[in-house]
Amino acid sequence: MPYKNLQQKISEIITEDDLPLDNRLTEICELLKTNIVYYDWVGFYFANHQDKTLHLKAYAGEATEHTIIPFGKGICGQVALSNENFVVADVSAQDNYIACNINVKAEIVIPLFKDGKNIGQIDIDSNSPNPFTKNDEEFLVWVNEQVATIL
Ligand code: SME
Repeated sequence: MPYKNLQQKISEIITEDDLPLDNRLTEICELLKTNIVYYDWVGFYFANHQDKTLHLKAYAGEATEHTIIPFGKGICGQVALSNENFVVADVSAQDNYIACNINVKAEIVIPLFKDGKNIGQIDIDSNSPNPFTKNDEEFLVWVNEQVATIL
C-alpha cells in the first residue's frame, strides 16, 4: 500500500468516535493536502440520489462555489454515474469539466461505496501537470473504504 505513513494517521482519525463525522472528514482532507505535495485541493462530495446532485461535505484548500454538482456534470458528476475512478492528467483536454480554480492542471475522483452503492466521492485537484499514478488510485480507494465504515 502506498503512503503507508499516512494510513496509520487516517485510521486514527476514523476512530475518533467523539468527533462529528464532518470534522473527521475535514481532518482527512487536511492530512492529505498537507502531506502529499501535489494534492492542492481535497474534498468529499456526497450524493443526493433523489435530486441527482452531489453536495460538498468537507474539504481542504480554497473555498469553491461548486458546492452542489448535478449528476453528469463535470468530472465529479460523471463519476456519480459511472461508478468508476476518473483520473484526469490534463483538465484542459476535458470538455465536461467544471473549473474551480484557474491554477488546477489535473484531477482525480474516486467513488465512495457503502454496501455496494456509489454514495459519494473523494475529489482531488492538483496544480501540477499529470501527477496522479496507480498508487494514488489504490491509496484513495483505501481511504474511501475507511470512510465508508463510519457512514
Ligand atoms: N472540477 C470538478 C468540480 C469540483 S472542483 O474541482 C472542487 C469537476 O469537474 O467536476
